[in-house]
Amino acid sequence: MKIPETGRAREEIFEALGRYRKNDMDWQSGRAFGYIFDPGQEILSFAKEVYNLFLSENALDFSVYPSLLQIENDLVSMMRKHLQGGQKVVGNFTSGGTESILLAVKAARDYFRKKRPEITAPEMVVPTTAHAAFHKAAHYFGIKAVTVSVDTKTFKADPDRMAAHITENTIFMAGSAPSYTQGVIDPIAALARIAQKHGIWFHTDACMGGFLLPYFKRLGRDVPGFDFSLEGVSSISVDLHKYAYAPKGASMILYRNPELRACQMFAFTRWLGYTMINPTVQSTKSGGPMAAAWAVLNYVGDKQYLAFAEKQLFAVEAIKKAIASIPELYLLAEPDMTLLSFGSDSVNVFHIIDEMNLKGWYIQPSLSFDGVPANIHLTVTLSNAAHTDRFAADLKQGVADAKKLPSGELLPHVRQIMEKQGEAILDDPASLFALAGIQGGRMPERMAPVNEVLDALPPLWREKILLQVTNAFFHPEN
Ligand SMILES: Cc1ncc(COP(=O)(O)O)c(C=O)c1O
Repeated sequence: MKIPETGRAREEIFEALGRYRKNDMDWQSGRAFGYIFDPGQEILSFAKEVYNLFLSENALDFSVYPSLLQIENDLVSMMRKHLQGGQKVVGNFTSGGTESILLAVKAARDYFRKKRPEITAPEMVVPTTAHAAFHKAAHYFGIKAVTVSVDTKTFKADPDRMAAHITENTIFMAGSAPSYTQGVIDPIAALARIAQKHGIWFHTDACMGGFLLPYFKRLGRDVPGFDFSLEGVSSISVDLHKYAYAPKGASMILYRNPELRACQMFAFTRWLGYTMINPTVQSTKSGGPMAAAWAVLNYVGDKQYLAFAEKQLFAVEAIKKAIASIPELYLLAEPDMTLLSFGSDSVNVFHIIDEMNLKGWYIQPSLSFDGVPANIHLTVTLSNAAHTDRFAADLKQGVADAKKLPSGELLPHVRQIMEKQGEAILDDPASLFALAGIQGGRMPERMAPVNEVLDALPPLWREKILLQVTNAFFHPEN
């Protein structure tokens, strides 16, 4: 494509984009168990209206847009109360959970550079269930990530095991409330106590649960402590574009006090341009997501969020029941909120995913790792609530259909290629792509072969191959 000499007609542009969207996941179908937090038409169109109102406003400079400073401080004020933080708790609005986590890790690194300058090779200790964003942060900020296996029954971090991995270089530890894949809450109180004892930073990743868990507690669910009521918690990430149903690009990073948060920010004046002060990663930053998040929280209100929580709770119970009724399936762990994963010893989970996909459902694979076999993840949200019966019926059928398909046939071929070519395959993975059915930069109709090939590879190899695939995909044809 090149920039057209003269602008194209609006209708033509909408038509072209419509064609581009043809194969996108239908997020309004209520059949997506991932990526989507759909509050329904009414809230969504209101959010869009506010988003558009602030689309062009720029949070780059709070002296020029005091409205955005006020909006951001209001959001921090709402969320610190929600998470039992006192007046000293401060924070910022970010583009998403990953940015919030990146900032917490960066703040911890810079805090310890000042407090403990003798640490020159900092480390973080995280459980295997910690979101990949922590590893991204470690990669970006030059920190060694030490990953600790979780309890094999509960999938929760094991405090003793975590403690055993603390060294004199450890500056940071994290736990999730809840974890993404199995949706379980780590023993945050015990972990935060350990961190406090060792004088290190503790971060609660409440990107998924920070907004919803307080409502679950009010509904009588047993929700272990995870927030600022625990003394050892230094920072918390909580996403508004998840269970607060704000439009995408909305998360908060909160700190116990301004001294910790100060290490997150960046100011620069040693150049010939404007005075730059960036509290978060972005510099130019649209006011749209922040204003829309503010508006959605105010519009929905506490009572309706509580009702949403109840609806989601019923939905997850129905889904659990559906899984329990199919003998070939098992839950990996008892979920604490609305996220869960299930597996099978007798049916190839990648085929189940494809079969469900053919019926219009989006469910997500997790590859095998650290002794845990490949499994299927579901993030249950409001829009799924009306479709749980259909899901149960389709899952039953999907498992029956998947059972009839051949499984594991690619494994010997992958092993053979690995043995014959060794790591050289990583530089030229064409034979693996062919085995997986990736051709001409296109993914195959069924993803099972792709997932099976990936699953058979050691994780570091997977990553290298995935980078190659991505490099190929993000490449215009002309
Ligand atoms: C527990 C947890 N932390 C962090 C993230 C990252 O959030 P985002 O995708 O908004 O960057 C996610 C995303 O699903 C998550 O589940």
